[in-house]
Amino acid sequence: MTVRRFFAASAGLVALLCTTFAAAQPNSAKPSAPAKPDGGALFQNRCGYCHLAGGTGTMMLERRLGKGHGLLGERADLNADFVQAVVRNGLNSMPALTRVEVSDEELSAIGRFLAAPKAARK
Ligand code: HEC
Repeated sequence: MTVRRFFAASAGLVALLCTTFAAAQPNSAKPSAPAKPDGGALFQNRCGYCHLAGGTGTMMLERRLGKGHGLLGERADLNADFVQAVVRNGLNSMPALTRVEVSDEELSAIGRFLAAPKAARK
């Protein structure tokens, strides 16, 4: 294949991908229903990296607070203000997360999720 033909073929492929993507957009965007942040999903997504089983957050908290206190999602002693303060300021080996990483709205939802009684979290 010549270089020119290679570029022509690539451009065609890119164009095809672009139209496919553009065509897929309207279907995925639901017009009504303003998305309400799901605290549980956000916790998994933004914090799970460190705070699910086997994460450094889980291990560090177990070390500092004792067995059974490692998994934030299973703690019954967290309140939303504390969670927000830790996330914005950091704590020991946990880095502070900026509003770019986790928006205020997302953080409120995560705080509510972690502070909610466990039975209501499912
Ligand atoms: C890069 C890893 C990392 C991420 C991402 C992370 N954390 Fe942490 N977190 C830690 C570590 C490590 C600790 C334990 C700090 C210590 O005690 O040394 C911790 C501790 C905490 C504590 C303190 C619990 C206590 O009882 O003292 C809270 C609350 C917390 N994290 C919430 C969150 C939330 C909410 C998110 C997501 C928005 C999050 N963390 C994301 C690593 C992380």
